[in-house]
Amino acid sequence: MNKKILSDCIQQLFANSKGLLAMDESLGTCNKRFAAAGIPQTEEMRRRYRQLLITTKGLQDSIGGVILFDETIRQKTDDGTPFTKILQDAGIIIGIKVDKGTIGQPGFPNEKITEGLDGLRNRLQEYKTMGARFAKWRAVIRIGENTPTQGSIEANIHALARYAALCQEADIVPIVEPEVLMEGDHTIWQCFETTERVLKNLIYQFYTQHIWLEGIIIKPNMVISGTGAAKKDTANDVAEFTVKCLLASIPPAVPAIAFLSGGQSPEYATMHLDKMHELFKNKLPWILSFSFARAIQQPTLDCWKGDDKNIAAAQKLLLEHAETNKAARQGNYIPK
Ligand code: 13P
Repeated sequence: MNKKILSDCIQQLFANSKGLLAMDESLGTCNKRFAAAGIPQTEEMRRRYRQLLITTKGLQDSIGGVILFDETIRQKTDDGTPFTKILQDAGIIIGIKVDKGTIGQPGFPNEKITEGLDGLRNRLQEYKTMGARFAKWRAVIRIGENTPTQGSIEANIHALARYAALCQEADIVPIVEPEVLMEGDHTIWQCFETTERVLKNLIYQFYTQHIWLEGIIIKPNMVISGTGAAKKDTANDVAEFTVKCLLASIPPAVPAIAFLSGGQSPEYATMHLDKMHELFKNKLPWILSFSFARAIQQPTLDCWKGDDKNIAAAQKLLLEHAETNKAARQGNYIPK
């Protein structure tokens, strides 16, 4: 492990209040979003959409790195330029999703385990030759009547730590994403309790598996009520519960935290990040940024609709949402 390579990459990703754009939707997820927007679910349409995203002029001013999917990292623009070259020329660091998705965890009804460790050491080397400098692995935790169980948390966290160790060995920064899902009718208190439990287990597992804390990025959910909860949270609630939970769980040795948006609307996700910075400006020991997919991309996808005459308008929306999140990282977001 070359610690300087890992640290330099993390600092570059988040320099000048930048954040990350997650555009690593798996085939299934991407096709689902295309279907909802009335876009044909083909490899060519996925290529055209991702081309639209990465060729947006000025994106590098607010986005330090993008997370790609295996199909995407191999794709080229209309004129045959590799996507990776477009990104490198713009000064945007290339990241890659390396997990292989989730399956039902045997013996644990209603819980999932993430696959993808077999062969990962070799895959990381291949991605590195393509220019990837950071990676992502997502585990999902569902709050339900009898979930999450300690058994499922531990299995998922163990895999996250094994993935992180392989990345660090390869001088690739691991983004570690244990997502407590928003689906459900749970309260913000329940989300707090589960998120704290998951993150504390994660840090302990990092310790036992010799992960260098200074060389990782944690990508958590915000602490927020479930989508079906009776009571809606204020921005202050989300900011206070989330920062309190992170301060209690994540040591200051970890350099950066970058949130997923988890199905919050773009406005809410941005407002919540902004409120955390406004209220806790001088109390945050780590970089606190964003690694959103839907909260940056959704308006762009809805505008594009698979029709190239909408490219300019769609790219304008992408840039706007990237920029508002950069402003939120400084507590300077002004809602429209
Ligand atoms: P969302 O911001 O849409 O939750 O996606 C983030 C992500 O990378 C999911 O793995």
